[in-house]
Amino acid sequence: MQQDYGMSEFRIGTLCPEDWATYKLTRLASLADSPDSFGSTYEREALFPDSEWQSRLETTERAKNALPLVAECDGIPVGLSWGLIHEPESNVAHVYQMWVSPEARGKGIAKSFLDRITAWAEARGCESLALSVTTVNDAAVSLYCSAGFVPSGEAEELRKGAALRTQPMVRVLRNAA
Ligand SMILES: CC(C)(COP(=O)(O)OP(=O)(O)OC[C@H]1O[C@@H](n2cnc3c(N)ncnc32)[C@H](O)[C@@H]1OP(=O)(O)O)[C@@H](O)C(=O)NCCC(=O)NCCS
Repeated sequence: MQQDYGMSEFRIGTLCPEDWATYKLTRLASLADSPDSFGSTYEREALFPDSEWQSRLETTERAKNALPLVAECDGIPVGLSWGLIHEPESNVAHVYQMWVSPEARGKGIAKSFLDRITAWAEARGCESLALSVTTVNDAAVSLYCSAGFVPSGEAEELRKGAALRTQPMVRVLRNAA
């Protein structure tokens, strides 16, 4: 059944290890809905065993450098985004897996994700945020440009052999000298 979230408020939460099934559901929904927005594919991730989804949210030393976020409307997950720091490159936080379900778009959810990831990254001393966006994805390019991201470096293939290209973008944070 199609949900109408038009009048609903949303809330942004952090995914905990016990939320792995919600994460799996939302991530697979994003890959099925927006195959041209991500380097990975539904076909690839649908084959992951549950242990893979669980391990992505585990609270190990590695996971301390991750901020897995979910957006909910009326308790239903409608969006996903991750902040991730790849040690030893601790001065850069990456934004991955950004997706908002079609019914929940245009309500500021993606902007809220970026605000949360920015605050998290700045609290960890990061000097910049980095991401890649498919060049023809006008909504996402507009989102990132309006949030202060600028192109950085050459566009690359979305995935091997693909005609679609992704543009790396960066946003300087207040910790930068
Ligand atoms: C791109 C996406 C994440 C935006 O999510 P959203 O929650 O609808 O975005 P927001 O409501 O927070 O919009 C914030 C800003 O983004 C820009 N924006 C968002 N959608 C837009 C659209 N369809 N056209 C133009 N600009 C858009 C606007 O600048 C907007 O600010 P404004 O409302 O003040 O004009 C969503 O469309 C989506 O999930 N798309 C498919 C997956 C995807 O492309 N992910 C990005 C991978 S890099």
